[in-house]
Amino acid sequence: MALKDVLIDELRDMYSAENQLVKALPKLAKGAKDQTLKTLFTDHLEETKGQVERLKQVFEIFGEKPTGEHCNGMEGVIEEGADALEKDEEGPSFDLGIVGGALRTEHYEIAGYTASIAMAKTLNLNEVVALLTENLKEEEAAAQKITAAAQPLLKAAAAQPEEAKAPKTAKEKYSAEKSREDEKKAAPDLKKHTTSTARKAA
Ligand SMILES: [Fe+2]
Repeated sequence: MALKDVLIDELRDMYSAENQLVKALPKLAKGAKDQTLKTLFTDHLEETKGQVERLKQVFEIFGEKPTGEHCNGMEGVIEEGADALEKDEEGPSFDLGIVGGALRTEHYEIAGYTASIAMAKTLNLNEVVALLTENLKEEEAAAQKITAAAQPLLKAAAAQPEEAKAPKTAKEKYSAEKSREDEKKAAPDLKKHTTSTARKAA
């Protein structure tokens, strides 16, 4: 596969990711209790719509259509954010769960754009590089703003009294079971790691 084709695949993934976020960001804005977070998500929704437009411009340069790949990664990351919205937490603790979800989406996009820009630079596609860099800068700024908005929430959450744990929902039980499976599957490789680390230390 030529590098240009890998880049186009990557960008179709990003196009799907951005479109998924256009649907997901209003839910985060609605769910967040903190006004700063609400405003941030609403503002970033507008930026995201602009990013979809820039990606369309990139595909025009290629003479290709932007659809063709569904981004499973972003679907998963958004799913994690949706879990945070269902959590039975109060005020700042609830919002901090959303912050974790939102930061994951931003960093997923930062990774996607960083990789795509590197490919476009190698192919000397200056116009494409410029458009993708604009998107990347917005994602980086959004991640920084979310991190800053989390600071007062962290302070407030630290002052929150501990609450009695609610019983686990069916979804949470399923997730807990899967996490034990993850641990079990990794165990043989971790054992090898522990043995080799012990050997190095000896
Ligand atoms: Fe984005």
